[in-house]
Amino acid sequence: MNVLVVGGGGREHALVWKICQSPLVEKVYCAPGNAGTASVAENVSIGADKIDELIQFAQENNVELTVVGPEQPLVLGIVDAFEAKGLRAFGPSAKAAQLEGSKAFSKDLMKKYEIPTADYQVFDSVEEAKNYIDRVGPVAVKADGLAAGKGVSICMDSESAKKAVDEIMEQKAFGDAGAKIVIEEFLVGEELSLLAFTDGKTVLPLDSAQDHKQAYDGDKGPNTGGMGAFSPAPIFTPELKEQVMNEVMIPAVRGMESDGIVYKGLLYAGLMLTDKGPKTLEFNARFGDPETQPLLMRMKNDIVPIFQACIDGTLAKHTLDWDSKTAVCVVMAAKGYPGFYGKGMEISGLKEAEETGAVVFHAGTRSNGEKVETSGGRVLGITALGDTMDSALSCSYSAVEKISWDGIHYRKDIGRRGAL
Ligand code: AMP
Ligand code: GLY
Repeated sequence: MNVLVVGGGGREHALVWKICQSPLVEKVYCAPGNAGTASVAENVSIGADKIDELIQFAQENNVELTVVGPEQPLVLGIVDAFEAKGLRAFGPSAKAAQLEGSKAFSKDLMKKYEIPTADYQVFDSVEEAKNYIDRVGPVAVKADGLAAGKGVSICMDSESAKKAVDEIMEQKAFGDAGAKIVIEEFLVGEELSLLAFTDGKTVLPLDSAQDHKQAYDGDKGPNTGGMGAFSPAPIFTPELKEQVMNEVMIPAVRGMESDGIVYKGLLYAGLMLTDKGPKTLEFNARFGDPETQPLLMRMKNDIVPIFQACIDGTLAKHTLDWDSKTAVCVVMAAKGYPGFYGKGMEISGLKEAEETGAVVFHAGTRSNGEKVETSGGRVLGITALGDTMDSALSCSYSAVEKISWDGIHYRKDIGRRGAL
């Protein structure tokens, strides 16, 4: 069959890489893809949110399965639009994707179905938000809608919380995504995530993974989309995973169902392990980036039948198999990320890096003739397997050292938490 992967980041390169290994698959397309996906699939120059053009492409090229990577097209209703044309697409409907697309929707669902999460209030008035801030301690101020991972401010005092409210609601830093805000209790603990496939009934968790959100070593600096990830995550004991399944993942899918929304696709819960147990920070309606890179490297199943089963409602028949080795992904970013960064820097050493045995997943890259150059903030995700965390790290970092461009930034302590 022909498969189309929608998106062009590190997660999508990993999805393309994994899908290409399926004996069921003849040809893989990636829209718009990057320089890495071009080496294993055929890139199609259609943006991930150009739904009508993607439908036309799928119809003209006999695409039997479309896998959607990023949240934006999901929230815009790409899966509904494909289904309306009789095309099969993996991912939640627009209604189901509200779980990521609206923080107010997702918090209200959690409250209704008693899914543990931080106490919160939703506001559409600056004044009421500020009055509330005066009555509470440290908070997280969050734009309701999608803000590419930048819509959350952690505020330890009321002054910075009010500034965050002004930025989101008055200065409209995230446009309409900030028409409403969620203000919630500040939680302390270690962050974890759990990803699961679901067909709306069966919820099938992936193995554990953890990412590193902050830009600099020692978990310092601004939040990013993720500077690295590893799998498995030793902190995620089987007991904890069961607890998160029973208290968070299954109630979310069942709760949506009770509200008349079938959630099909990949459900991602971002969690804080507090001293009162795991609490849900957010839901995402798609695979995490960069957690997908180490997870798919360890997944032994053919992933295509799993995607099909999520669409067909037959996931109960499947189990997942995992390589017992450890996988780590070190993200190499452009200097300045997650703030302002330059583009168009020539990348060298890619071939030498792959010779170490690591897989170089591309994120923000593009081809320019024979050259490969940077085209985004997160540029590459160097991913390696090892018998231990140490051996995976040594392979990954030896590959990292072979690569250069003008202005590289990466964390030197990826996997440190996992090695403890
Ligand atoms: P979110 O997009 O809601 O997951 O928030 C992005 C990041 O902000 C999370 O990964 C956490 O690091 C941090 N964060 C969000 N909510 C809270 C909270 N209530 N308490 C502490 N940190 C938080
Ligand atoms: N790595 C976190 C995310 O994909 O949102």
